[in-house]
Amino acid sequence: MKIAVIGTGYVGLVSGACLAEFGHEVTCIDNDESKIKSLKEGRIPIYEPGLEAMVLKNVQAGRLIFSTKYDPAVPEAEVIFIAVGTPASRRGDGYADLSYVYDAARQIAPFLKDYTVVVNKSTVPVGTACQVQRIISETNPGVSFDVASNPEFLREGAAINDFMRPDRIVIGTDSKQAEEALKAVYRPLYLIETPFVITNTKTAELIKYAANAFLATKISFINEIANLCEEIGGNVQDVAKGIGLDGRIGRKFLHAGPGYGGSCFPKDTHALLRVAQDNGVACRIVEAVVEVNAAQKARMTRKIRQALGGSEGGKKIAILGLAFKPETDDIRDAPAITIISKLIENGASVRAHDPQAMNEARKVLPEVVYCSGPYEACEGADAVVLMTEWNEYRALDLLRIKKALKMPIFIDLRNVYRTAAMKQLGFDYFSVGRTSADN
Ligand code: UGA
Repeated sequence: MKIAVIGTGYVGLVSGACLAEFGHEVTCIDNDESKIKSLKEGRIPIYEPGLEAMVLKNVQAGRLIFSTKYDPAVPEAEVIFIAVGTPASRRGDGYADLSYVYDAARQIAPFLKDYTVVVNKSTVPVGTACQVQRIISETNPGVSFDVASNPEFLREGAAINDFMRPDRIVIGTDSKQAEEALKAVYRPLYLIETPFVITNTKTAELIKYAANAFLATKISFINEIANLCEEIGGNVQDVAKGIGLDGRIGRKFLHAGPGYGGSCFPKDTHALLRVAQDNGVACRIVEAVVEVNAAQKARMTRKIRQALGGSEGGKKIAILGLAFKPETDDIRDAPAITIISKLIENGASVRAHDPQAMNEARKVLPEVVYCSGPYEACEGADAVVLMTEWNEYRALDLLRIKKALKMPIFIDLRNVYRTAAMKQLGFDYFSVGRTSADN
């Protein structure tokens, strides 16, 4: 099938590459000339495992093209995916900024020729598909098209696998023709028996927000249980296992830590609250999830302060991991950014390392000393904080870390190491939701 993808950000690029991998003829379109130029030269602007190889392979096979022009790809396309960004609104009121989605609809409209399915892949508030429908009809009256909603559930760092082996495909549309076109797009997934959820556009849009809000709820829930464990002498990892083995609960997304971050959960929980508020419906659980997450980040700063004997002022702190999670260079809403900013505000100096995210972090935290590796970061520091559970921090040479540190204080905000083993090595070891009596 001939497919156009509007937007070569994270979602657009991964979707375009994977759709080409399915065998479709895909053109990825972006207004940003320099971005398209780099992509044409084989340079991928984001770090995502497996993406570069997949892009190169499909470009070479002639199935994946990058362009700044809508013609001829848009008029020829049977299906057009809108995959532009929907950042949090600059007004700071929790709404998603839909201007890029609406611009994309306005720009494709004049180029539509034969019947086309326009698909919203961007994460958008309920009702956006209807707005896109209206914009296209007004811009190009009489053109034959349908709008569908097809939210993505890609995780950064695992996006290729999530696209190629999804838990489900959600298709929101009131048109049988659009439904059939989208089923044809995803036909390769029939072989692995991927379930399809076919519904109306508003429900599909809500599914996306509800999924992210529910996952965020699991995280805030386990973080509160972790805090309780610290008070009563419990072990949150055992609690997570003990409840997670119940199939109705499930073991995933029950890792206690410094709170969720990234470009999705913080933005989407706020946007869901706005949708609820606009419709006069209470969404108290999601409200609490957002509050608990902010409190968790603050609690982590206090944890570091206490580990340092009550004050971070004048202390040198090593931070391992800046990205909001491993396998990405994304630092948007990363707990590391909030926590480091607070530590610096309170007079600490910070040395940090991250395998991928240091370039991004430099832009927002210029005061930090960026180091070439974890051991260099620990050199002369009063404490080390393991902030993001990158694989290379899971097997640190702990004796070398201890030797590099001024004080053997290890604050493990991702519960990577074992309490008893760390104590045996002579560390003052602090983690999340576990006590000093744990193994
Ligand atoms: C999330 C969803 O998992 C995807 O399904 C969705 O498509 C995506 O948002 C999106 O809306 O585009 P992502 O933000 O890439 O994906 O990352 P996650 O793996 O979900 O992690 C989010 C945050 O939660 C991270 O900061 C992570 O450290 C934290 N987390 C996750 C925990 O603290 N504990 C857990 O048990 C799991």
